[in-house]
Amino acid sequence: MNQDAALNPGGTVPFKPLARVLAITSGKGGVGKTFVSANLAAALAKRGNRVLVIDADLGLANLDVVLNLYPKVTLHDVFTGKASIDEAIVRTAAGFSVLMAGSGMVEYSRLTSEVRNDFLRILADLMPHFDVVLLDTGAGISDVVLFSVSLASEVMVVATPEPTSLTDAYATIKVLAGQQKRQLIRLVVNQTARMGDGRAITTQLQQVIDRFVPSEPGRQLKLVHMGDIPADPLVRQAVMRRQLLMQTLPGSPAALAIAQLAGKVQDSVMR
Ligand SMILES: Nc1ncnc2c1ncn2[C@@H]1O[C@H](COP(=O)(O)OP(=O)(O)OP(=O)(O)O)[C@@H](O)[C@H]1O
Ligand SMILES: [Mg+2]
Repeated sequence: MNQDAALNPGGTVPFKPLARVLAITSGKGGVGKTFVSANLAAALAKRGNRVLVIDADLGLANLDVVLNLYPKVTLHDVFTGKASIDEAIVRTAAGFSVLMAGSGMVEYSRLTSEVRNDFLRILADLMPHFDVVLLDTGAGISDVVLFSVSLASEVMVVATPEPTSLTDAYATIKVLAGQQKRQLIRLVVNQTARMGDGRAITTQLQQVIDRFVPSEPGRQLKLVHMGDIPADPLVRQAVMRRQLLMQTLPGSPAALAIAQLAGKVQDSVMR
């Protein structure tokens, strides 16, 4: 029995599936995870989805800076019982909601079982209210990052074409295949210089995975290329002005690429 049928055995009551939870992660830092998370959220919202972005970079949250939002109530207050989850969710002008970690979360970068349980409980409470939940995670393969990725049904790795970013992306993918038994990982190549860069990089990385990432027969990890986002000076300009590119410069090359990415995310089958 699939999950839908299990939850709606008679098939008579309309059943709303829970949100897709998509972790946006990377090996190397500063490759564009937060930029992609915020702008993809705006693009998915524009397509009619109810979208929530959770700043899951518990140690070094910076989604608030990118969005120029300074919520008084954060995930930290929810964890410590000072506020309810409803009070911590902020609706942005771009039509999606955000849940900020808050700088007080630094103390939570030590991953106690209490933090894990709090996070799981909050996510479970939120899922019925959204179509897509994006987790903007930290970089690398620390316990905190791997935990936040483990909460997601889908993983999207952001990498740039630089060799250091690709080596780190490979390391992350290898750990996710081993520890989380992921069989499908989505890849977005950000800051590309030429058309086709991302597809070539995906093919190269897949070859390395096929050779060096151990798997059970028939369960080989598949990388799915979701798209390229060109290096675009307007991205930096929007970040400096603390504006959302998708909103203020929707015709810019990077915003157009993100709109295309949103279409692909929406059309992709959930695994
Ligand atoms: N497509 C792009 N073209 C030009 N610049 C970009 C592009 N994508 C990201 N950047 C630049 O890279 C900077 C870092 O991006 P961002 O903060 O999203 O990275 P991150 O992966 O979230 O970093 P961290 O690992 O610290 O969380 C942005 O402030 C922006 O200036
Ligand atoms: Mg970030």
